[in-house]
Amino acid sequence: MSRVARMISGTGRKAIMTGIVIVGTQWGDEGKGKATDQLGESVDYVVRYSGGNNAGHTVVVAGQTYALHLLPSGILNPGCVPVIGNGVVVDLGVLFEEIDQLMARGVRADRVLISANAHVIAPYHRVLDRVTERFLGKRKLGTTGRGVGPAYADKVNRIGIRVQDLFDESILRQKVAACLEQKNALLVKVYNRPAISATEVADELLQYVDRLRPMMTDTSVVLNDALDQGKVVLFEGAQAHHLDVDFGTYPYVTSSSPIAAGACIGSGVGPTRIDRVVGIAKAYTTRVGEGPFPGELLDEAGEKLRQDGGEFGTTTGRPRRCGWFDALVVNQAARINALTDVFLTKLDVLTGWDKIPIVVGYQVNGNRLTAMPMTQTELHHAQPIYEYMDGWTEDITTKRSFSDLPATTQAYVLRLQELIGVRISGIGVGPGREQTIMIHDLL
Ligand code: IMP
Repeated sequence: MSRVARMISGTGRKAIMTGIVIVGTQWGDEGKGKATDQLGESVDYVVRYSGGNNAGHTVVVAGQTYALHLLPSGILNPGCVPVIGNGVVVDLGVLFEEIDQLMARGVRADRVLISANAHVIAPYHRVLDRVTERFLGKRKLGTTGRGVGPAYADKVNRIGIRVQDLFDESILRQKVAACLEQKNALLVKVYNRPAISATEVADELLQYVDRLRPMMTDTSVVLNDALDQGKVVLFEGAQAHHLDVDFGTYPYVTSSSPIAAGACIGSGVGPTRIDRVVGIAKAYTTRVGEGPFPGELLDEAGEKLRQDGGEFGTTTGRPRRCGWFDALVVNQAARINALTDVFLTKLDVLTGWDKIPIVVGYQVNGNRLTAMPMTQTELHHAQPIYEYMDGWTEDITTKRSFSDLPATTQAYVLRLQELIGVRISGIGVGPGREQTIMIHDLL
């Protein structure tokens, strides 16, 4: 039996895992919500550690579809405590709207904990996000326009507003006024926009204090205590590896650290507490927003993947750019996130193709690369090199074990596993919670 086949047949050791990170390996929208939700049943805490309401997780439970933007998807499992860590930027209006909508559908969403150190997305961040994008013109980043980048910029600039600031009205008013002094000068003099009133912003933020009071806590203490007690803590990555501000396709990235290491910074647990890192990889590739995407299909094949996969943004409704599975993209994520497992999603979307291409290299200035290039210039010039696998026509959405899959489907999965170099532990074959093939336990 080959090493790759052995990885799938799985005779691996089962250890008790308590700190587990889920991270997207491509450009987001890999179906992390489904994998997180899958684990959520046995998980005690689910933590968002980076990003804000730029994320979009679609989870289908008992035929009901939930689109979550800020709350961790574990919220749909009643036994699990959802946590918003210090690394998240929080639009409080969106937070409470999302909580209220879930409550109206019978989900006990009022049990969310939020870090006192999480930063707040204020109304001026949203304005600046849109104005600066417009100003960039054709060099725009294609942000979600939710104010995420400007909120992180203020955090690093040390002029951000944190959740705890709302509990000291005088401090809050001073901080908002100081921050707006700079921003209003920019808005009025550079962008030709009206000034924003500091009093109105502070008043708007203060209206959330009563609802925030029971939720705000030192989430680092809560999570470390939970880990000490052997509880299972799941760190739910938003966005994805290639949108990471350090390792993604900069500058076409988000402004935080969605990679696995970001789970430590964004929640206050140390690296030695992370036992497992599960990378979520879609069986093909998508990207929203601008930026390099060497395998992008601009033809009917791309359009078919978009339609078959329902590839339209959960947050903005934008059509996603589509391409075949790019092994270089996922391979880099495997290295930098030190993945222990891969969860392959949306394999059913590939049903019906005669041949399924896989990107196995890039042609760059006459050179053949088998790993992502070091520089942005090279990536912009990269042309995909494909290898072709046989497709399948059988419906795989009802399959629940690897051996039940058609031989060509198995061969495709095994080839991806070989290219990634990490065992594939789960496969999604449809949007429903039960439409999953588990090969190795994640916990
Ligand atoms: P921002 O995070 O709104 O600043 O957007 C920066 C880039 O990240 C844009 O290309 C967005 O489309 C992309 N992005 C942000 N969040 C997500 C996500 O959850 N899924 C996919 N792309 C995202």
